[in-house]
Amino acid sequence: MAVDLLLGLQWGDEGKGKIVDVFTKKYDIIARFQGGPNAGHTLEFDGHKHVLHTIPSGIFHENTVNLVGNGVVIDPVIFKKELDNLEPFKTDYKSKLLISRKAHLILPTHRLLDAASEASKGKAKIGSTLKGIGPTYMDKTGRNGLRVGDLELEDWMDKYRMLADKHEAMISFYDVDVQYDLAELEKEFFEAVKMLKTLQFIDSENYLQNAQQEGKTILAEGAQGSLLDIDFGTYPFVTSSTTTAAGACTGLGVAPNQIGDAFGIFKAYTTRVGSGPFPTELFDEDGETMGRVGNEFGATTGRARRCGWLDLVALKYAVQINGITQLIMMKGDVLSGFKTLKVCTAYNYKGEEIDHLPYNIEAENVTPVYTEFKGWKEDLTKMTDASELPQELLTYIEFLEKELKTPISVVSVGPDRKQTINR
Ligand code: GDP
Ligand code: IMO
Ligand code: MG
Repeated sequence: MAVDLLLGLQWGDEGKGKIVDVFTKKYDIIARFQGGPNAGHTLEFDGHKHVLHTIPSGIFHENTVNLVGNGVVIDPVIFKKELDNLEPFKTDYKSKLLISRKAHLILPTHRLLDAASEASKGKAKIGSTLKGIGPTYMDKTGRNGLRVGDLELEDWMDKYRMLADKHEAMISFYDVDVQYDLAELEKEFFEAVKMLKTLQFIDSENYLQNAQQEGKTILAEGAQGSLLDIDFGTYPFVTSSTTTAAGACTGLGVAPNQIGDAFGIFKAYTTRVGSGPFPTELFDEDGETMGRVGNEFGATTGRARRCGWLDLVALKYAVQINGITQLIMMKGDVLSGFKTLKVCTAYNYKGEEIDHLPYNIEAENVTPVYTEFKGWKEDLTKMTDASELPQELLTYIEFLEKELKTPISVVSVGPDRKQTINR
């Protein structure tokens, strides 16, 4: 069986957690392929609201295996908290949560390095979640990192000490004041490592290959979004992993010709949290309304998300880079009540109208060109069938499908599992 992918097409927080949870009933295995605790994936069901950071979003389904792939970076401290938060749900994670031995570990000193690096950048800071993501992926590609499999080795503590000592020297290299008590941080870290070691570590690429041969259905869950991709995102205001479809190949060991459907998920408008260019960002009442009605606050950091109109130039780019076969549109309900909706269909770039994403999309280089649509008044949140959707929304959807040359097969009209309409 081919492996399907689900990934975000914007700057993250599109609603991946919700849709993976909704889709899980169709899959035997949900496998996260990149990112780490910088992610915050929100699930709502049966009156519960739950945020996952590293654990795949299929964890609340009894018969599904959840795999943390080799492309993910794991902070044992945050992972332990996530496991503790699962306690009330009586989830049998010892049997159905598997961890790749090749996943890299975030050490307490990686977090400190993240903080020192950001502080040293001043106004040019990335707006990192400060979870140690950048420094951990730097150690991975620099061939210095520690992996989950190292926890099973006798010389693990020596390896840990060597790397942590090196990090301390690097922290002092930055000319910034980072206060920390490493002994305290290490106490918490080693307690969490002990907990992590009670879970099943596996050779995950081998596991997935066998599962495929046995005909198991697999969904690869992405984190962040395509515009935060290390290569194709708005560099340097990006994360440090491959958030696009290719990341599922390297982050799980799935061959490119084994990819089936690629589900691309986007909000009916756009949000971004942290620094970096955002051509369709709004600083007016419309943007404020989107943030308030959409409850746009980061699931990991609580920071207010910047809001703006849908950017079709950027969305087209993401659909192409990922080879998206089906689209999923989220949060259409947030746009109810807007008299007019705008979609950015081109950019004015250095005096010329262009319809592709150029190298520089900073405000001084790019002005969005908008197409306007009539809004709708109806509350969508109680609708359960596509036939109930207002004509103005259908016009909006059909325009996007035509421009993106890809069907929008699911429309989400609220945060709950049940508020999901198939078309
Ligand atoms: P993720 O990182 O892609 O999983 O997305 P987040 O969980 O960070 O952010 C999405 C937010 O929107 C969460 O608070 C969800 O509960 C919420 N949400 C998801 N889908 C919908 C929707 O269709 N309508 C509304 N109003 N909220 C939604
Ligand atoms: P999910 O999976 C939204 C952003 C940060 C920052 C930049 C780099 O919930 O969609 P990092 O901590 O990776 O060094 O931060 O990327 N960012 C996200 N924004 N959703 C996320 O994940 C994000 N993960 C990182 O705000 O601008
Ligand atoms: Mg999120």
